[in-house]
Amino acid sequence: MKNLLVTGGCGFIGTGFIRYLLLDSDFDGRIINVDKLTYAGNPDNLTDIEKSNPARYVFIKADICDPDAMTHAFKSYEIDAVCNFAAESHVDRSIVAPDAFIKTNIEGTFNLLEISRRNSDRLVLFHHVSTDEVYGSLGPDGFFTEKTSYRPNSPYSASKAASDHLVRAYHKTYALPVTISNCSNNYGPYQFPEKLIPLIILNALEDKPLPVYGDGRNVRDWLYVKDHCRAVWEIMKRGTRGQTYNIGGRCESTNIETVSMVCDLLDEMVPKADRTSRKDLITFVKDRPGHDLRYAIDCSKLEKELGWAPIESFKTGLRKTVQWYLNNSQWVHRVKSGEYLDWVRQHYGNEEGV
Ligand code: NAD
Ligand code: TYD
Repeated sequence: MKNLLVTGGCGFIGTGFIRYLLLDSDFDGRIINVDKLTYAGNPDNLTDIEKSNPARYVFIKADICDPDAMTHAFKSYEIDAVCNFAAESHVDRSIVAPDAFIKTNIEGTFNLLEISRRNSDRLVLFHHVSTDEVYGSLGPDGFFTEKTSYRPNSPYSASKAASDHLVRAYHKTYALPVTISNCSNNYGPYQFPEKLIPLIILNALEDKPLPVYGDGRNVRDWLYVKDHCRAVWEIMKRGTRGQTYNIGGRCESTNIETVSMVCDLLDEMVPKADRTSRKDLITFVKDRPGHDLRYAIDCSKLEKELGWAPIESFKTGLRKTVQWYLNNSQWVHRVKSGEYLDWVRQHYGNEEGV
């Protein structure tokens, strides 16, 4: 893998992955990051990487749905591997406006697969990053394994499920060398504050209500983003082509527990002047339609075959995450004020999706 196309590299996990590959891993090739820079793509995340690795990092602002732009990228940079993170990723947005999810997650993946197929003489791997949400919802017991049937419940998870099926089909039909990973909920640095954990951290710091959907008993299985990135890289290097790997933290927590943990950390790290607890800000709000009750991943295949295990526990990872948001007030300010989007508009013009 000399010229690795990473899509969606300016988003939360894509950023973590590029930083991990270039700063911490044994990857010795070049990364070509293709990102459309939607509201979720923030070029600030990789400015330092761009400066310090001019020979090993290239950024292209483009849409994965654009056949000409993607064909050009493949040819110009002699792409020999793909890691596809680019997606619309927020369930609540998919409920309000599913169109972009169908477009990017399904058509975009299809477009990348087609161009990969046309370049299959050079291509050694197409890795597709997906979610455990394709499996639907669990009751109080049991785990998702790689054999669990797909039962997606939201437009987001349905669009990811469709893209997973396309990737698998391209392996079966065209022998494209693919791997797929289905991961549980991530948290950590650079996550856009529409997702639960950063939203709670930033609202709590501003003394705003902390919205918890329904009764707060929905369970998510949390994984620190760098552990996810390490797993993806191990799968890309050593995973069996044509196979799916589940990635998870064995770290189940109800939403109310998670929100309470964030409050406790903030109360300890930045106590309020009046010493009251941020837990007082918790506000139960109307539930999300079709809200999946519980996700929990059985990641024993990944553990046994590739020897991967998470490094961070929820406790250590959450502390690091809270600390990161406290240390990066400038990043937070630019994201919350939309300043980074103004920069994108000035730099690239006022295009659709920005
Ligand atoms: P994100 O929303 O933070 O980032 C998505 C990135 O993709 C952004 O940089 C955005 O600009 C870019 N993008 C969107 N549409 C594009 C298009 N048409 N062309 C090019 N770029 C485009 O998402 P994330 O949380 O980093 O998730 C990354 C991937 O991981 C997604 O495929 C998601 O389904 C999957 N995943 C996420 C989680 C999680 O907890 N966040 C868990 C499991 C799997
Ligand atoms: P989210 O971060 O949106 O991830 P996902 O829906 O992909 O799991 O939400 C995580 C959980 O937190 C989910 O059960 C919905 C819940 N949630 C809230 O209770 N309040 C919020 O403000 C948000 C954004 C999510």
